[in-house]
Amino acid sequence: MQNNTLNELHARKSVRAFTPQPIPAEAKLAILNAAAQAPTAGCQQLYTILDITDPELKKTLAVTCDNQPFIAEAPLVLIFCADCKYWADAYTEGGHDPRPAAVGDLLLAVSDTNIAAQNAVTAAWSLGIGSCYIGDVMERCEEHRKLLNLPEHVFPAAMLVFGYPTQQQADRQKPARFAREHIVHENTYRERTGE
Ligand SMILES: Cc1cc2nc3c(=O)[nH]c(=O)nc-3n(C[C@H](O)[C@H](O)[C@H](O)COP(=O)(O)O)c2cc1C
Repeated sequence: MQNNTLNELHARKSVRAFTPQPIPAEAKLAILNAAAQAPTAGCQQLYTILDITDPELKKTLAVTCDNQPFIAEAPLVLIFCADCKYWADAYTEGGHDPRPAAVGDLLLAVSDTNIAAQNAVTAAWSLGIGSCYIGDVMERCEEHRKLLNLPEHVFPAAMLVFGYPTQQQADRQKPARFAREHIVHENTYRERTGE
């Protein structure tokens, strides 16, 4: 089966080298607005998005995120933080005494955050803008919490760099995926064979 959405989902691939072309303000807004339209648990939007505009901060992130120089060169860098703080703050503000956030709250917030991030990826791709996730933002969480001034209960769950793909990146083959039967199990989990 084919349609435009399915074709775009199949065509999307990570982009790690960008042309110097800046991302127009309108496109950036469209990406951010699309992120906010993602499904979200209880419609709470348990995330805060950091728009990294400071070139020095981008350079630092390029180093702290496993020395990946293309981060510093990306015209748009967004860090999606799972935020278990601001609802608690709102309840406290309203005179209530919310229970402290627990692991389950973090998992829910991370789900919310990553779903919003993926909406941003898809929206960008539809505008001809490539992107790449940077997992190291959470792997070196403690360092990034200090760097980004993240309070307690706010976790940097996903970082995305965006830009227009160079010709080499546009031509690069997308990595293949496993055959569907290895990934989709019917009803219950099935151990994979050695094969
Ligand atoms: C959570 C996550 C973290 C990732 N971290 C990095 C990264 O630090 N550097 C990088 O170059 N790519 C990173 N990627 C991109 C993956 O390498 C890429 O999605 C994968 O190889 C499949 O390729 P495709 O996106 O082109 O289909 C990450 C992807 C995800 C989902």
